Order: sequence, then C-alpha cells, then structure tokens
Amino acid sequence: METVSESRLRQDLEANAEFGAIDADAGRGRTVHTGTEANRRARQHLVERMQDAGLDVTVDGVGNIAGTWTPESADPDAAPVAAGSHLDSVPEGGIFDGPLGVYAVLEAVRARQDAGVEPARPITVVSFTEEEGQRFASGLLGSSAAAGLQAVEEALMLRDDDGTTLREALASIDFLGQGRLDASEWDAWLELHVEQDTTLEEAGVPVGVVTTITGIAHYEATVEGEANHAGATAMGERRDALAAASEVVGDVERAAQEVVATDSETAVATVGSVDVQPNATNVVPGQVEMGIDVRDVRRETMDALADRVEKSLARVADARGVETTLAREMVVDPAPMSDRVRNAAHDAGNRLGIGTKDLPSGAAHDTMHVATQTDAALLFAPSRDGISHNPREWTDWADCATVTQVLAGTVADLAT
Ligand code: CO
Repeated sequence: METVSESRLRQDLEANAEFGAIDADAGRGRTVHTGTEANRRARQHLVERMQDAGLDVTVDGVGNIAGTWTPESADPDAAPVAAGSHLDSVPEGGIFDGPLGVYAVLEAVRARQDAGVEPARPITVVSFTEEEGQRFASGLLGSSAAAGLQAVEEALMLRDDDGTTLREALASIDFLGQGRLDASEWDAWLELHVEQDTTLEEAGVPVGVVTTITGIAHYEATVEGEANHAGATAMGERRDALAAASEVVGDVERAAQEVVATDSETAVATVGSVDVQPNATNVVPGQVEMGIDVRDVRRETMDALADRVEKSLARVADARGVETTLAREMVVDPAPMSDRVRNAAHDAGNRLGIGTKDLPSGAAHDTMHVATQTDAALLFAPSRDGISHNPREWTDWADCATVTQVLAGTVADLAT
C-alpha cells in the first residue's frame, strides 16, 4: 500500500503559501485572486510539480488546470478518477483552504507511483479557477464550466470591477487554455477540503466524510417607506423603512431558530447586508435593501424559510404602511454526495485504522457542481478552532497527511 509523505505535502503547501503572502499579525495569510501575478505563480508552480510527477497537464478555456496520470497499467480510454480543489483565495485568506485539496491529490498520485501500485484507470488532479468568486463571479466559476452549467464563452465575458474580462485576465497570466474540462467524463470525483468548522476537532476524528453539501439561496428584500425630517416628523406620522426592516431581521432569526428546533438542525438564515437610504442621522430612513442568505441540506426547509421571510415582509407592510418586495437572486440546491464514493472513503479509513466521521458541509464547494455530472464526494480535514478565510486558519501537518492518506486510499480503490 502506498504511504503519503507528510514532508513532501508540506513542502508543496509551504511553497504555495508564498504566492500572494501577506503580513499577518497572527498566522499565515495569502491573497490570490484570478489573473494576478500571485495566481500566475501559484498555477505555474502546480504545473511544474505535476510535470515533475509525469502528469499530462492541460489548461481549459476558463483556466482550469488538469494533470492526468495514465500509467501503463491503465486503459487510457477508461474514465479517469478525478480529484482536486482550488488555488485561489479570499482576501487575506488562509494557506490550506483550496491548496490542501489540490496538493493532497498530487501527493496521493506520487505515493502510488512510489509504491509501484498500478491503477486500472487514469487519475486526474484538478485545480478549478476562482472557487472563491472574488474577482469575476460569485463563486465556483471553474467547476460551473466543467459541469456544463455555464458556457465557457459566457464565463470568459465576465468582468471584474474595473471592466477587465476573465478572458483578458487569464490571457495576461498565460493561462487561457482551450476546450472544456468535462466533469461528466469522470468515473468519480473526490475533493479534500478543510472543514471550516469544529465538528471534527470536537469529535477528535481526523477525517470527515460529507453526506450533503448545504444548498444556498440569496434573496434581496426591499422596504420602501418615506424619508422625512427626523425632528419635524412626529412619531405617529412616520413610515420608517429601517424600523420596519429591523423587525424583519428579528423575524428571520426567529424563523431559523424555530426551524432548527423543530425540523432541520442544519438550517441557517442570515440578514447579512443592509443598505439604508439616505443613511443620515437626521433623516427618517426612506428605503432599506437587505441581502438574505438561506442554507440547509434540504431544499424544502430553504423554501419554507423563504416563505417566512415573505410573510414577515407582508406583516410589516401591513402594520407600518411601508411597501416591500422580495426577489430571489440565486439558488443552488443541496447536493447529496455519492454513496459509492463515500463508502470508498469510509472503507479506506477502516483499512488504514483512521477514524472517519459523517457530517454535512455548511459551506459551498466546487464538488456541488461536479456532483451534478458524476459520483462525487467531499472529505474534510480538521480546522483548528473552526477558523478559515483568515490567516489564523490552521490544520496540523500531521492531520493534513492523515486525511491525504485516506484520500489516497479512496482514489486507489476507485481507480482499481
Ligand atoms: Co475553499
């Protein structure tokens, strides 16, 4: 059986951590956005490491990088087992979120090569473009193209805040490739990611096997009142949009708490943004726009929560003489993970004597798009104190190696 090398994995991750590195008061951070010099260097480094391992590297039309190992034992026409994650980051993000999942798969391949174990299927290491959605899209950009949910040409026309297109940005760093990485051609898919929560840490289990990736819906609600003089307008004559909106904020929180208590303990609802007009101390607020985020592992719960938001808006409209609207900006359905791939991961853990634990994922991942096309699963590594998207994000090197060992065992099983 193959044994992954903690030091080789660590070397890769530490090298990658230098690209876009920031000065952080505590921890180690990096900022790596699509099409930047830091992104070019991170991508280039990965390509070189893939080539060192003898992988055949391709870059697709949206800059997704794939490195395929096709040993002599493998039928080159067999559907590959693919696995990977992303190299981009949020602003001042951590060094594990994304890169761990990319370099872990590369390490799994190298360990298998070292052991001289020859798989029957090719193995493809993947790095998706712009998972974090910081420059061109709202997130999961590369995987949306690979899953055929967004056309390559359409994605290339996405613009950043300065009007630069994705096409221009990728071309500027020499990572505008051709064709489309097609997830439907994969026999199976696996992603390893940091948990970004404390379930594994609290359970003292080194490997998480995700059951379902939570669905997300974003809504925009508006409350239209009347802007007026804060001194001259008597309390009884007001249509205060913010006072009305604040009731909605409370209703949304209560609705989610009730759903958690009665129906689905993984449900969450958040009024995450509020835009008040005119936002002046001496003016009764005339208009409020609220961004509302609803998530759960069950679509019915998400829809029920959206219903509660609508009822709350109707209630304050009635009670306070304001006008309200609610529009859904986006919805991504919950993605149940494949039993076949999940079982392979649990079996690998059992074989290796490494504990695995079922858990849901509250955060979105590229795997939810890939899961629309092939059997997919998501593994988690413990996150210290559950912190991520922060330079203090941390997973012990030994834990990185342990979960990579289970990933390697799972990939080996699937590629046999
Ligand atoms: Co990530």
